Amino acid sequence: ERLEYEADAAEKSGYDHYMLKEIHEQPRALRQTISGRIDTDDGTADIDVDLPSEYVDSIEEIQIVACGTSNYAGRYAAELLESIVDVRATVEVASEYEFDGGRDPWRTLVVAVTQSGETADTLSAIRRAKRAGARTLAVTNTLGSTVVRETDDSVFIRAGPEIGVAATKTFASQVATLTLLAVRIGRARGSLSYGRARELLESVRRLPNAVQGVLDREDRVREVAREYADSDAFFFVGRKLGHPVALEGALKLKEISYDHAEGFPAGELKHGPLALVTEETPVLALLTDGSRPDETLNNVKEVEARGAPVIGATTADGDGRATDSAYLDVELPVPATGALEPLVANVYWQLFAYHVADEKGRPIDRPRNLAKSVTVE
Ligand code: G6P
Repeated sequence: ERLEYEADAAEKSGYDHYMLKEIHEQPRALRQTISGRIDTDDGTADIDVDLPSEYVDSIEEIQIVACGTSNYAGRYAAELLESIVDVRATVEVASEYEFDGGRDPWRTLVVAVTQSGETADTLSAIRRAKRAGARTLAVTNTLGSTVVRETDDSVFIRAGPEIGVAATKTFASQVATLTLLAVRIGRARGSLSYGRARELLESVRRLPNAVQGVLDREDRVREVAREYADSDAFFFVGRKLGHPVALEGALKLKEISYDHAEGFPAGELKHGPLALVTEETPVLALLTDGSRPDETLNNVKEVEARGAPVIGATTADGDGRATDSAYLDVELPVPATGALEPLVANVYWQLFAYHVADEKGRPIDRPRNLAKSVTVE
């Protein structure tokens, strides 16, 4: 038994849980994800995927289908595609998906985002799209998985195996891969300028170090998590690229701590959730680039006035100091990475969820009622 225990600990490389190990593996996973895929000279992404430029030109809409954390990675990508790359993109929860591709279904590219490549809801959505005649693409972590066999083409996120039920490093690698795909598509269509593409690629290149910068502040996040662990509920807010990260932050916390957590666009607070805001409901706010920090700050003021503790992730300036701190109880600085700052900030929310759950002694790697891969519809 002792041997088994030691083998298990060795696999976790000294971490108490796979989840924590995988959170810390993110810089390495991201380096693998982007390795050889950034073409700075041409301002494009070199991903090995069969998307001829005539086809890319003809795409009318990109429909992303995915579940859980992968769905939130898809939302991040759709936001990037629409706001920066100027391509029409939608995201649907795979179990809700019905194909609607207009007169020429082939002009709709349906992208399945799935870590495992085996999620039944996602496979079933892809089968619908195929039956209707759409072109399909898989973005997955798993070579040889069912989704790879059933789609026209696939891109691998190369995050390495993920054991913890709560997805962490695969979310980061999914968003990084989808960002590269977005650059590739935007450049092929001519809707993304060379300069803007270089900016995005530079943000991708900075990701591993930026995430490391957040991981280096884990002690502070642990303190904050302990301080607020006994709260009644937790609200995560963020606009634009910060919205999927708010959803993902809330999902992570509820999955492993069993606390009530909700994520929504910051502007929606006043349309309902504000009724629940008290001194006992911390609000975790994204105030970085890409998440409309100035408008979000107005919403932060509303919750602060009602006594809610505010934990804000903000863009760090060159000196490592951050701005807009007057209304924040806790300020967590995010290294400058432009449109990918919300993704970097997500690592704070991962650490926060982990330490709240750990404080409560939850079985973090195997949360009740949940499975790593759900193969029933
Ligand atoms: C399950 C897991 C989630 C995951 C979702 C989608 O519900 O518990 O962590 O995000 O499936 O999984 P996939 O493998 O398709 O990304």
